[in-house]
Amino acid sequence: TITSVIMAGGKGERFWPKSRTNLPKQFLNISGNKSMIQQTVGRLESLIDISQIFIVTNELYAELIRGQIPNLPHDNIIIEPVGKNTAPCIALASLIIEEKFPESTMIVLPSDHIIENEEGFIKILKTAVKVADHDNILVTLGITPTYPETGYGYIESTKELQILDAQEVYKVNRFVEKPDADTAKKYVESDNFYWNSGIFIWKTETIRNYFKTLMPEIHDILETMKASFNLDNRKEIINDEFNKMPDQSIDYGIMEKATEIYVIPCKLGWDDVGSWTALDRINDRDDDGNVIRGNILNIDTKRCIIESNNGKLIATLGIEDLIVVDTDDVTLICTKDKAQEVKLLLKELRTQK
Ligand code: GDD
Ligand code: MG
Repeated sequence: TITSVIMAGGKGERFWPKSRTNLPKQFLNISGNKSMIQQTVGRLESLIDISQIFIVTNELYAELIRGQIPNLPHDNIIIEPVGKNTAPCIALASLIIEEKFPESTMIVLPSDHIIENEEGFIKILKTAVKVADHDNILVTLGITPTYPETGYGYIESTKELQILDAQEVYKVNRFVEKPDADTAKKYVESDNFYWNSGIFIWKTETIRNYFKTLMPEIHDILETMKASFNLDNRKEIINDEFNKMPDQSIDYGIMEKATEIYVIPCKLGWDDVGSWTALDRINDRDDDGNVIRGNILNIDTKRCIIESNNGKLIATLGIEDLIVVDTDDVTLICTKDKAQEVKLLLKELRTQK
């Protein structure tokens, strides 16, 4: 069987003030008329049944998920007492899924990405599942990099090409998570590096073995949980044990160290919608290069992203390269080159409180 894990515990802070602690990015309509997590589930439903889809998140968002995805069985929402980044998230999911679907192949997905070519995506996932069927193999989907982004993982492929279902598949030489700017620049200039899309495909058994050898402290906690679970203590056991997990991403913890990785290069109109400037890539721009949403009046305004979320009119005159986002209680005004640093405002706000 094929199962899927959607990781939905992120805070989406770079999309503040639209993204809030109680309503982060993955639950918002950033593009189109469905939320990002609804789109993620929708794409998967053309491959697997909803009963095979699991969402890992914080208690805070369980209700939101039940509301936005009413056909998802409630048991398929896996709740973490605290966020410990993606390695513990995936580890816990593998344990819970194994009980219901022994020996499944898991498709691990972020909850907040855009994929334009849905048909192509499903086709690639089918190939990926076949590759991952081999013992100990981890599969990633690679995106051709277009600029030296330092917030992504980079995958160096070898020239060992295999063709499977008319899809190119390469053995990976190494995986480098979030390199510095100079290194990223070198990678982008060479032709055998891909961005890690953050989408992974592997058998539950395979990833459990990798945890055992590369992150044994996580493996031990899983074993303790497994041995302690009975019919009605699951929530308490998870609450007690999960807190002991190290705070680590799957990228640093497993992908950078594993040897048997394969990458499938893909052109799917992928975007991780990391910050406000992503709207430049995914939305239509007007003749002056502006992306506008809501009640906006602009004259002599160039290359701006302007969004009114409350019906209030935003009127601009003579501004360039700015992000202006109005919500009921906060108005953000920020230059585009600072889009990655919107988090700083939140940090400052918290220290003032
Ligand atoms: N349940 C849960 N718990 N989900 C989490 C947690 C957690 O503690 N932390 C993050 N997530 C979710 C986020 O909501 C997001 O959907 C996904 O896991 C990835 O986490 P990010 O925090 O967005 O990771 P990143 O952007 O720094 O880096 C990853 O994605 C890049 C592509 O977007 C890495 O995999 C990079 O290598 C990759 O290039
Ligand atoms: Mg991300």
